[in-house]
Amino acid sequence: MTIAVVSAMHEELAAVLALMPDERRQLAGGREFWRGHLHGHEVIAVLSRIGKVAAATTATALIERFAVREIVFTGVAGGLRPGVNVGDVVVADSFLQHDLDASPIFPKYEVPLYGTSRFESDVTLTQRLAAAAARALPGVPVHRGLVISGDRFVSTTAEARALQAALPDALAVEMEGAAIAQVCRDYGVPFAAVRTVSDRADDAAHGDFTKFVQDVASAHSAAIVAEFLRATS
Ligand code: ADE
Repeated sequence: MTIAVVSAMHEELAAVLALMPDERRQLAGGREFWRGHLHGHEVIAVLSRIGKVAAATTATALIERFAVREIVFTGVAGGLRPGVNVGDVVVADSFLQHDLDASPIFPKYEVPLYGTSRFESDVTLTQRLAAAAARALPGVPVHRGLVISGDRFVSTTAEARALQAALPDALAVEMEGAAIAQVCRDYGVPFAAVRTVSDRADDAAHGDFTKFVQDVASAHSAAIVAEFLRATS
């Protein structure tokens, strides 16, 4: 059964594809799915594109069309909690959509008709991913906890502070994880996500974002994915 590796950005997908000797392209839902092998595992690598809807579509296609057995996401995030610094790695234990608010019908952040605002990642898969990150990137801090997602690139100190105040346990903010977690919960497919902190979601967040993804995050993603698959039986 196939393991899916999902990236939000081209540079990261390219770094993962560079590790696969035999990938073949297959089109579905306007996306390119790359099927091949890595460390003896059947792998399908795909670009989710950016944002919650794009991520949910990608996850649904991976499950419905390609019957993947688990989904691993690699990407970048803005650090929120003090101490979650640029270059650190965050592995999500749970996810929340910070831009979802159907109040007063439902409590703020609650996903209507699910009775919860938080979706957990798969415990075992997450443990394996965090262990792989620690082995692949010695010396790099690996944080575990809540990651929040929304259809916004958070790039003002005021917004970052407001999110920190509203959700003090949130380690980092990104734009896809909670959407994939919800789809994976619907289908009962294990999901785990690892993010390299590219910025602090503040007034300086946009600065060298692209350069950081090219120079640091892509290498992190590829190293973590390679180590994760090497250690997977
Ligand atoms: N991904 C990386 N940095 C981010 C930020 N500041 N906001 C949302 N998504 C991000």
